[in-house]
Order: sequence, then C-alpha cells, then structure tokens
Amino acid sequence: MQDKEIEALITAETNRQRNGLEMIPSENHTSQDVLTALGSRLTDKYSEGYPGKRYYGGCEFVDKVENLARDRAKALFGVSHANVQAYSGSPANQAIYFALADPGDTVMGLELYFGGHMTHGLKVNFSGTIYNSVQYRTGHDGYMDYEGMADMAMREKPKLIMVGATAYPRIFDWQKLRKIADACGAFLVADISHIAGLIVAGAHPSPAGIADVIMTTTHKTLRGPRGALILCNGNPSNPLKKPERTKENLPSLIDRAIIPGLQGGPHNHQTAAIAVALREAATPEFKAYGHQIVKNAKRLAENLNNKGYQLVTGGTDNHLLLIDLTNKGLKGAEAEDALSKAGITVNKNTVPYDPRPPFDPSGIRMGTPALTTRGLKEAEMDQVAAWIDTAITSASDDKKLAKIHQEITAFTKAFPLPGEK
Ligand SMILES: Cc1ncc(COP(=O)(O)O)c(C=O)c1O
Repeated sequence: MQDKEIEALITAETNRQRNGLEMIPSENHTSQDVLTALGSRLTDKYSEGYPGKRYYGGCEFVDKVENLARDRAKALFGVSHANVQAYSGSPANQAIYFALADPGDTVMGLELYFGGHMTHGLKVNFSGTIYNSVQYRTGHDGYMDYEGMADMAMREKPKLIMVGATAYPRIFDWQKLRKIADACGAFLVADISHIAGLIVAGAHPSPAGIADVIMTTTHKTLRGPRGALILCNGNPSNPLKKPERTKENLPSLIDRAIIPGLQGGPHNHQTAAIAVALREAATPEFKAYGHQIVKNAKRLAENLNNKGYQLVTGGTDNHLLLIDLTNKGLKGAEAEDALSKAGITVNKNTVPYDPRPPFDPSGIRMGTPALTTRGLKEAEMDQVAAWIDTAITSASDDKKLAKIHQEITAFTKAFPLPGEK
C-alpha cells in the first residue's frame, strides 16, 4: 500500500483483534472470501435501480451479483422477497418506517435503555422525531413484557410494532407478538440483527411467515460484511403506481422506500460480500457454528453465575450476556476499561431499570459470536470466565491486567483469525 499511515493503522487494528478476545456481541470476524469481495472493483460501479431496471449502463455483472444475493437471502430465510441494498441496519430500518408509516403516525418499539436500538423510536433519533414513537420496556425480571406490550398496543394503536434488541439475552416469542400486532392492526417488524445467524442455524425461532417485515444487519452473528437485508412476502405491484399499504404490496413498498425513497447507488462490493456470506451461512458448518455460539454463551453464563455475577434474567438463551455489576462495586465503564487493558473487548450497557445514567451505566454486555468463529468451545469459556473475573476483581491493578493480556495474546495463537494460520 502506498498510504503507509493507513496501512499501519490497518495492521495495528488487525493485531488488536488477533491478540485479544473480541466479545462485543454485535461483532464478528468475516471470512477471507468476504474480505476479497469487499475489496473488489465492484465498488467502482454505479447501478441505481434494481437488476434489469437500472439507470446506468454496464450493469450486466452487478445485476447477477445482486440477483445471487437476493436469491440466497430468500432461500436462507424462507421468504419470497429480499432487498439487499440498504447501506446498513439503521438506513434499513429507516426504509421500513418510510414504507409503512407517514410522518406523525404512531410507531412502537423497545426503549433503548431496555435493550432496544436507537432506530426503534428513541426521541433524538429520526424514528422518534418524524414519528410519534411510543416505547415499551422489559419487565423488572429483564424478560419481554408481552402483557404490557399488548396493553400499550391497544391504547396507542401504532402503525407498526418494531421488535428486536441489542441487549436481550432471551428468545422472542414471535407468535405472541403476531397476536399483539393483529389485535391493534399494526404491521409487525422483526429486527433480527443480533440473532440472524442463530435463526439460520436453527438455534433461535424464526419470524419468517409470522412477522410482516424482517430486517437484519449482515455483520453480526450472520458473519458477513456491514450491510442489511429487508425480507418480506407478497407480490411486486405495478411499478408505475404508488402501492397501497397492504401486506400483498410489501415487496414494492420496501423497494420503493429504498430507491427512490432514501438511497442512490447500491454498494455493489458490499452486495457481493453479502452474497458470499449468505452462501457460507447455508452450510452445515455454519449451522454447527450457530449452535456453538449459544453453547459457549451458556457455559460462560454458568461460570460467571458461579462466581457471583448478577446476570440479567439469570442467564442466556442466545449469544449474549447482560451483567449488572452493582454487587461487584464496579461501574460498567470501569469494567469495560479494565477488561480492555486485559485484552478483552466488551461494552458498558444499561441494565433494565438502571438507576445510573445511560452514559455511565451499571452493566456490561458481552457475547460469544467472534470467539466462536475463532474456534473457542465450552472448555475455553471456563478460562475466559476466569480472566474476566480476575480483571474485574483487580480492576485497579494495571500490572495484573497487563499480565492477563500477555496470557491472552499467547492463548489466541491457537485460535487464528479466519484465513490466518
Ligand atoms: C437490533 C439492531 N438494529 C439495528 C442496528 C443498526 O445497524 P447499523 O449499526 O448497521 O446501522 C443495530 C446495530 O447495532 C442493532 O443491533
């Protein structure tokens, strides 16, 4: 590379990942093939529109790329329509609101501080300013409060109910959610960004055929490049007519919301890398991977429970753990900092009904997707839990933290990043 400054930073970041334990539950390590597609000439090409209906010439190959991505997404998730053009998860959610509601309409989503995402109606996000957002919470036990949701839905009559989370350690009951949406006449949107890889593996129930629209980022448990899929069923309607907001018209509503509604040219290199990741996700190895993520998270939870940590909901059914550190006398930010010095990357997070402010919360969130990609299994989780506990109980002892980092660097040599030996 001619640009030595950027080259050095890429090397430094790769080493940071290689020599540490990446435990942010929304992160993963992509395959070499995904990286190759991302770094390809496809990034040079403009192709506004959809395959076969572009505003630019020279699209014969990118049309095939996008069709492969769409077909693989449909087959993998079991839906009849896939839009693969959203630049990332937040713009994908923006497109879904744009498709299903008008400015000022009521929309309902999980509050950020209870595990939702900003785009689920946070007051300072587009979803809480353009729309009248009403926000539901989990119960005090940390579990989804379906009864509370049903009451709110009947009271507020939202146009859409967004369901999904960034920090929820349990399973979503899609059938219960369908009933809530039907009772108030709302579209049900499943944001499965965090759990898509588990769903594909059969390690979490799928909302396909239950939710009206499914959105997932492609870069979390699904292990692809940054990007998003919007999935639904229905039939594309007359492209010259504005479609009515019916379930049958969902494919056209979504496609028109992406372009011309919100975006210009698709990122073809990203689309190709998504297609590569979807092919990988259709393999038996990926299925085993998805189940192993959950086994690893459960083993980690068991270890930390035994060491007296307070896990929200008492444990996990998926890829992540949310831990309230109040009884350990440490704030989330302090734990994040100590673990980082020890070579373990997690993030501070609010816990349900957190008495502390969101920018300085009581908890941390950690997950197993990236470690599982590197080949760590249950036995290694016992060691990881021991390091986590030592780092947290010795948070102010920089020497001890540095020693853990050395141990982790040596340990990770046996668990190379994808494509490395
Ligand atoms: C549940 C959920 N939805 C949406 C998003 C937004 O995705 P992005 O960061 O790609 O915009 C995230 C990312 O953290 C998420 O966890």
